[in-house]
Amino acid sequence: FDPKTPQFLTSDNSSFASVSANERWPIIITSAIDDLHRTVGSASGEEKQKEGKSIIESLAKLKYELQHDRQITPLADDGNPDIAQYNQELEQRGNPNWHNVPWLYSECYLYRRIETLFSLSTHWKGYDVFARQKMSTFKSSRPAVLELASRYRELALEAESGKGVDHKSPEEVEQAEKLLFSEMCEICLWGNATDLSLLTSLTYEDIQKLQGSEARKASQKNIIVNDLDAAFEVMQKARREKKDGERRVDIVLDNSGFELFVDLILAGYLLSAGLATSIVLHPKRLPWFVSDVTPKDFSDLLNSMVDPQAFYTAADDSGTTFPPLSEKEVGDVRFLFEQWSQFHQDGKLIVRPHAFWTTPGCYWRLPHVAPELFEDLKESELVLFKGDLNYRKLTNDAQWDTTIPFTTAIGPMGPKSGIRVLAFRTCKADTVVGLPAGEDEKLRQQPGGGGAEARKWAWSGKWAVVSFSDGKA
Ligand code: F6P
Ligand code: MG
Repeated sequence: FDPKTPQFLTSDNSSFASVSANERWPIIITSAIDDLHRTVGSASGEEKQKEGKSIIESLAKLKYELQHDRQITPLADDGNPDIAQYNQELEQRGNPNWHNVPWLYSECYLYRRIETLFSLSTHWKGYDVFARQKMSTFKSSRPAVLELASRYRELALEAESGKGVDHKSPEEVEQAEKLLFSEMCEICLWGNATDLSLLTSLTYEDIQKLQGSEARKASQKNIIVNDLDAAFEVMQKARREKKDGERRVDIVLDNSGFELFVDLILAGYLLSAGLATSIVLHPKRLPWFVSDVTPKDFSDLLNSMVDPQAFYTAADDSGTTFPPLSEKEVGDVRFLFEQWSQFHQDGKLIVRPHAFWTTPGCYWRLPHVAPELFEDLKESELVLFKGDLNYRKLTNDAQWDTTIPFTTAIGPMGPKSGIRVLAFRTCKADTVVGLPAGEDEKLRQQPGGGGAEARKWAWSGKWAVVSFSDGKA
């Protein structure tokens, strides 16, 4: 079912695939070991501690196999049907070694393999080795969270009082709405820059630089493909034509913490503005690519907002304490919490995990591997795919010519699929499509752009693409 265009391989020295396998994955496994080591130290019960230590050994073994370029071994069966898919594909690919294998497959395998160590255990089922990191990074996002909470509440109150609409012609109202839609979408897009699998060591200052309205304004020119207007047209048309009908928007989530926070900002805005009547969120079933959202991350985020003062002023791991929030700041965060909880209770904000999102393959396989999910997505007005990995999966992480249209590169998810796809992606991997002729070459010539050898400009998250395909047209 996959396209014929070859994929990026971990043996491609000029691609981020090889940097990933050589440098990033060992660091990620080491941080998983450190996390578990800490938890084992304070775990109660000898049996649990013993088992925890043996999982640490298995993680160390995985790291050894990776660093010594051993053959990738079949996954142990933990009773979930996706294991057979992983193992069959491994065999079909000729039981490759770690450093000469398609990047997409091997990176998915890495996280699925880590999961088996916990799912097959007695005392550690459901343990998330990345949870600690996810929460602490979210805590470091405090300034941007407070800034956005304040901005959002202001807008909501303005909308309620009708102030924004006074003395405006219908055209001006529409223009203002379009601007607000773009602002909300850009907030949501750049939230993807704080991804923990790429930024393996982030300081508090680094995080501030990536977030906040200043950073966003400065980055507007870095959106090299921008189909937001087309997406807005479609949403507005749906609102006109199905005024009193159901209009669902789906978000295939990426990272938790700050990115999930901005996804919810967008979701809340779409619901409040009447551009959607329900939002379906698609998290991962298991810990994935370090920072991806699991259902527990969703509830942890909401819980942290019940009492923002306690959450944001608690001392961190190093014992550093933080100044208290003002009354207004607490009120702004609580406002969001109450609105989102209400939407959730009213069935307008729905969390729907599916095993498909953590299978090894690309989304060209969706109609065949998970036909019921494919059918379900057709019910949606718009399916928003967040982040780099979703983009790689939509396009099979293939070595497409950068000028090939997005609608072609996503194959069965494209025209006539019955699904409207919108991808928000800050570029963190080599695959990019839909660029004007000459754009890739131009960006390669910039300092650090990679020149003729590599597409380095596309690795860092500095550039972004917003690509749309109207599969219902
Ligand atoms: O490029 C680094 C990387 O880990 C890729 O392997 C992966 O596609 C991506 O980052 C994950 O990013 P995101 O969270 O945006 O999907
Ligand atoms: Mg991610």
